[in-house]
Amino acid sequence: MPVLLIRDPDLIKSITVKDFDHFTDHREFFTEESDPLFAGSLFLMKGERWREMRTTLSPAFTGSKMKLMLPLIVENTNNIIQYLRGHQSEIIEVEDLMRRYANDVIASAGFGLKINSLEDRNNEFFEIGSSVFEFTLKQRILIALSSLFPVVSKKLGIHFFPKRTRNFFRNLVASTMEYRKREHVERPDMIQLLMEAKGDWTSDEITGQVFIFFAAGFNTITSVLVMSIHELALHTEIQERLYQECRQLKEDNRFTFDSLSELKYLECVILETLRKWSPGIFMDRTCVKTYELPPPREGGQPYTLKPGDIVYNMLNCLHMDPNYWPDPHKFDPERFSEENKHNITPYTFSPFGGGPRICIGQRFAMMELKVLLFHIILIFTIVKTKKTMDPIKLKPDNFSIKALKGTWVEFQKRK
Ligand code: HEM
Repeated sequence: MPVLLIRDPDLIKSITVKDFDHFTDHREFFTEESDPLFAGSLFLMKGERWREMRTTLSPAFTGSKMKLMLPLIVENTNNIIQYLRGHQSEIIEVEDLMRRYANDVIASAGFGLKINSLEDRNNEFFEIGSSVFEFTLKQRILIALSSLFPVVSKKLGIHFFPKRTRNFFRNLVASTMEYRKREHVERPDMIQLLMEAKGDWTSDEITGQVFIFFAAGFNTITSVLVMSIHELALHTEIQERLYQECRQLKEDNRFTFDSLSELKYLECVILETLRKWSPGIFMDRTCVKTYELPPPREGGQPYTLKPGDIVYNMLNCLHMDPNYWPDPHKFDPERFSEENKHNITPYTFSPFGGGPRICIGQRFAMMELKVLLFHIILIFTIVKTKKTMDPIKLKPDNFSIKALKGTWVEFQKRK
């Protein structure tokens, strides 16, 4: 099945925003019959059904709802800080730590579970959650098959996630909902918000949504945290400036949901990490109504896309294109400063995708990233060690963005 790679910002705008009604859907990998958890989630829903679900879910991600969830995130941040206090000046492998943070936040904010994976290291949620993304050879082959031969994979009814995973999430959501209804328990998390949302949903439909919140937020959050910590270890001057900003807020004793938006430099650091190490490599779209792409150059031919054709809008190609981002390998948060951000060519930076199908969890993700980085920087200096890779090279055989030799740093308590 051919795929058209798009790396022209204007075309990306047309496909994702202006002419969205020609490209409303993501590429179908699995049918709902073969993989209800994933295929029944917002990410893979299509057309009108997707629109309805998106409209229903959107109120769960407003500023006021995020504000309610902040304490759940802070609680997990405190667990990480406590762990680091106990492991000062040791060389630490950051990825495992950040996976545990991302896991515990989504367990709490998504599923209503209070877990500390740093203490209870082999808890079932972490074990099953991690296995979702530890693709075995069999799963890699299935992914390749489904992407190369989608029709065959559908006919064969290939399941992406093992039965144990599906049943675990299904039972968890069903029992939590039942318990809350029975005991009239309320908690400001996503299950609660979905239970309150309009629409008469089955527990399976709700499971699909909470599952995608987990699936979409686990590896992405982990890799952005790991890569920002890695870059901060390599750039002491950036780290110092960030520390001054965080210290100022702390001194004024103003750490609240609203004050997070005042951490401008922290935002620049995160955005620059998202540019250079974008967890999403492309955003795919399926053409649902015939569409004519203009000629690529003067005198060239237009190209007609037919329903079923697939385009990949290439995010990371644009993020690293020197025509738009001079010296693209340089880690330079200043690119996103108030003075510079107007120089950014529209649609050359879209780590959360774009148009009506943009990441619904963007706000939640930014809050989760900011809260942890703020607390780490305030209390510790992130120190480059002899094991810290410099320059960073990526693991070539992994779905996630990871440094080839891992991210190893020391967290030294500030005086
Ligand atoms: C740094 C973290 C994250 C990044 C970089 C990221 C990136 C993305 C991207 C690129 C897309 C596709 C957008 C498009 O096709 O235009 C997406 C969709 C999505 N993301 Fe995220 N995401 C992150 C965190 C999260 C979190 C924490 C959640 C849930 C709480 C989440 C939930 C979703 C969902 C449900 C969709 C599908 C939206 C739809 O099709 O309507 N994401 N994300």
